[in-house]
Amino acid sequence: NLVEKAKFTWKTPSNIALVKYWGKSNPQIPKNASISFTLNNCHTITTVEFEKIEKSSEVTFELFFEGEQKEEFKPKIAEFFKRVSDYCPYIFDYKMIIHSENSFPHSSGIASSASGLSAIAMCLMSLENELSTDLPQDFINKKASFLARLGSGSASRSIEGPLVVWGQHSEIPESSDLFGVQFPFKVAPIFENYQDVILLVDKGEKQVSSTVGHNLMHNHPYAANRFQQANDNLTKITNILKEGDIKKFIHLVESEALTLHAMMLTSAPYFILMKPNTLEIINKIWEYRNTANSNVCFTLDAGANVHVLFPENEREEVLQFIDKELSKYCQKNHYICDTVGLGAAKL
Ligand code: PMV
Repeated sequence: NLVEKAKFTWKTPSNIALVKYWGKSNPQIPKNASISFTLNNCHTITTVEFEKIEKSSEVTFELFFEGEQKEEFKPKIAEFFKRVSDYCPYIFDYKMIIHSENSFPHSSGIASSASGLSAIAMCLMSLENELSTDLPQDFINKKASFLARLGSGSASRSIEGPLVVWGQHSEIPESSDLFGVQFPFKVAPIFENYQDVILLVDKGEKQVSSTVGHNLMHNHPYAANRFQQANDNLTKITNILKEGDIKKFIHLVESEALTLHAMMLTSAPYFILMKPNTLEIINKIWEYRNTANSNVCFTLDAGANVHVLFPENEREEVLQFIDKELSKYCQKNHYICDTVGLGAAKL
């Protein structure tokens, strides 16, 4: 029962991993389980207009990014549609006109694939819901996460919130390599409404694309130990989050960030993705944590930017510290204040 026309708009967030996903096997199966905070302010808003056409053997779409047609983004999206088409055969019956915009500045070094691909996945599921009528919400979210994963692994963690686990893990019931699931336990109050300030140290293009990055873990001398460690860390962080042990949280999260970068330092070829200012910031955070008796800590993505994480009850002091002491290490003093959020929202 194909409708002639439909149009859906979704807002989906970025996320920041606490236990990192780094290493996969095909197609987009993670080598270890990961967990992330879903963000709130860093998001993508995407509208997809579906227009019924004669069934085509190729996926037909136009892509506008912040109002402009973007040819250079098309191959990645085309590849994404090719991968999801086995699970969404109806896309061959439609022309899709996609309009997308990010809340964060273009090429700020913030990965937009998680928010961007999860938004398109939600639009596909809205169409599927219209074609099949009243799919259960749980199925919609699971399948959206499944589809988003096929585009970018970490995108599977952007549908729900505030904490999402992706990857099969013994401590997390219902967890799967195929889609993200909400962290199923109640977290201690200190971890509610957690804050993340993203310091934009380097807004340049990523030095290592994540595809190249994940591939570096094939034949990596430390790969097997790393995957084991990440799964062990997921067990540990599960207890830490439940019990509210913030000191252990800080230690685990910073160690995960440094280990991710250590994997890149020790791969062939090797990469240094931190910049001098990344290290300046890390040292300042450590100094501040000791002198101000604070619970602020950092994590990193596969790049030079620093995510500064802290509990809501320290917001005022830490924001002052960032403004006074850390913003000078950012390009044009630019940083983004975010908090943990709840995932995809229909507009
Ligand atoms: O989703 P991808 O393929 O871009 O990989 C993201 C990997 C990290 O951001 C470095 C870690 C993570 O778990 O998000």
